[in-house]
Amino acid sequence: ERGEYRHYMQKEIFEQPRAVADTLEARISPNGVLPNIFGVGGDELLAKVKGLHIIACGTSYHAGLVAKYWIEEYARLPVNVEVASEYRYREAVVPDGTLFVAISQSGETADTLAAMRESRRRGYLGTLAICNVPESSVVREADLKLMTRAGPEIGVASTKAFTTQLAALGLLTLQLAHQRGLDGARYADLTAQLLHMPSMIEKALELEPRIIELSERLIHRQHALFLGRGAQHPVAMEGALKLKEISYIHAEAYAAGELKHGPLALVDEDMPVIAVAPNGPLLDKLKSNLQEVRARGGELLVFADGEASMDGNASRGVILRMDGGGDFIAPAVFTVPMQLLAYHVAVLRGTDVDQPRNLAKSVTVE
Ligand code: M6R
Repeated sequence: ERGEYRHYMQKEIFEQPRAVADTLEARISPNGVLPNIFGVGGDELLAKVKGLHIIACGTSYHAGLVAKYWIEEYARLPVNVEVASEYRYREAVVPDGTLFVAISQSGETADTLAAMRESRRRGYLGTLAICNVPESSVVREADLKLMTRAGPEIGVASTKAFTTQLAALGLLTLQLAHQRGLDGARYADLTAQLLHMPSMIEKALELEPRIIELSERLIHRQHALFLGRGAQHPVAMEGALKLKEISYIHAEAYAAGELKHGPLALVDEDMPVIAVAPNGPLLDKLKSNLQEVRARGGELLVFADGEASMDGNASRGVILRMDGGGDFIAPAVFTVPMQLLAYHVAVLRGTDVDQPRNLAKSVTVE
């Protein structure tokens, strides 16, 4: 039931604090990840992992891309992330000790399921499913599983499935990192961040009134560019996917450093640029990318971490401050305004938000 909400998508966006809390429930304590949350023998198998191949489609693929940044940084294991429709038809090299990870909300996406079946032939250490539907094919066929507990997602545009996938991948990251000797204080800090993910998402949802105002700026646009760096690059990709999926505005995401290698040619006063700018070592780099946009008259919408010092004199544009909740969980928290922006632009444009044209909730055909 939609209840007080206008669309399922909006309801599902606002369910995220609960959905993420449920996904973390009884799996992590302030001392760290609890034993064997991936199923019987899971921790033993994970201890042997030397690298990961993460396979998924659409939004679930974006969750995998965030996890690559996390796992490589904290567990120091190599991670490849690939869309299932490519992976299944090419001869991927599988080094010894590689774990195959499938991410899927539905667990029935044809390409993801076929990729998982194909992986059996390719000599993996084992398979792990991160999925929202316990009785789905992907879950049934995996060795290890970690269920997201988002509850049914009705809106075709995936929202709470994504943030719960990030919560689950956060647990996987912590387990792998701990087993590989991550510094105790850092492990405690990352654990605390993950435990705060629900409350930080809750706070981000309070931005809705500001985002409704901002969405006016996009309704008559044909195109939009999304920028991020590091683990926020996949968040920019997810923002662009949401916007194009439900508002039918053409949107593309770039790693901000790629701007001058091509897309800058598109930037003029008709091209809004949406940037995710959390705190951290890449902030200065991102600021100089944004300066390039500003110099060309492009309109900037910047979502900035509360502590980040941004130049407040954006001639055309807005800086919206929020609290990312720390370097680890910031990608999940910054996703929320991307979802709200896409949602409200689509509502203003009068599209069928929950059932966008040409799309199906579960892509069970190739
Ligand atoms: O059920 P899955 O997670 O396997 O679905 C994958 C994609 O089809 C899905 O994320 C799609 O991209 C969404 N409509 C995005 O909002």
